[in-house]
Amino acid sequence: MSDIVILGIFVADTAYRADRQPKMGETILGTSFALGPGGKGSNQSVAAAMAGGDVTFISRLGKDAFADIARATWAKAGVKSAITEDGESYTGAAYIFLENATGNNAIIVAAGAAGRISAQDVEANRSLIEGAKVFITQLEQPIPAARRALEIARAAGVRTILNPAPAAELDDAFLALCDIVTPNESETESLTGLPVTTIPEAETAARALLARGVGACLITLGERGALYVDRDRSFHVPVISAGKVLDTTGAGDAFNGGFAVALTEGRDLPDAVRFGCATAGISVTRAGTAPAMPARAEIDALLAAQG
Ligand code: RIB
Ligand code: NA
Repeated sequence: MSDIVILGIFVADTAYRADRQPKMGETILGTSFALGPGGKGSNQSVAAAMAGGDVTFISRLGKDAFADIARATWAKAGVKSAITEDGESYTGAAYIFLENATGNNAIIVAAGAAGRISAQDVEANRSLIEGAKVFITQLEQPIPAARRALEIARAAGVRTILNPAPAAELDDAFLALCDIVTPNESETESLTGLPVTTIPEAETAARALLARGVGACLITLGERGALYVDRDRSFHVPVISAGKVLDTTGAGDAFNGGFAVALTEGRDLPDAVRFGCATAGISVTRAGTAPAMPARAEIDALLAAQG
């Protein structure tokens, strides 16, 4: 049993740095390549475990070399796992383009075996979900599996967090299962059809999601930090910088993992959001996604330096 239970995918991240993306039919030379562990659910699990959380990750893997990377990653970070082994598919991969000038990214995910996570996989882990304090999922695995897990968590009184990434069409019944949703700006735009280019616009969009049934909306705003909105209050937390931005991939995952840990420790919401921002602030100064997640002592030191 773990305080934090996360459902999602692992994939191998293949990250290419270049000045720009190739056009269709074009070949360009990149400046570097790296292979490392990724997938939003796995990254969030690693972030939470590194930040001091007791975490179990529910997922599905193929039987191949990338699955070995997954298991080694979780062992190193202290993530427990509940894995369905799938001999009929492969452990997936993500193509990640990293823009040299900005560290920003564009990603294609092929989820492979994790794209076959089923409601039955979730049922098999029912007691794990029921025993959590916080349950988190994303939208990289099939939505029926996410829905079943959120239903189980909600029925057991477990706090539910949905990181709606990548953005997808969600019905109001699905949204109503979420205590907190954590979209970024573009995901918020997709979910609401509203522009999110300023903090007031983000607040308006958040209220549209509240009207559709979510308990609270916590929008990550890149270099502008994060905005929390529920029916009783709203507050903005500015970015917490730990140095020069090298690679923003996985920043949202760092934020979600750190935020979940702070919640399970009983911190109040503004403190929990700051904890998430500090976790993300350190992760963006390092290459990669899961390997960029900070240790608890680093997060505490950054927050202490903020005063
Ligand atoms: O959030 C970043 C992650 O999204 C990457 O690790 C990539 O695998 C994609 O799933
Ligand atoms: Na990073």
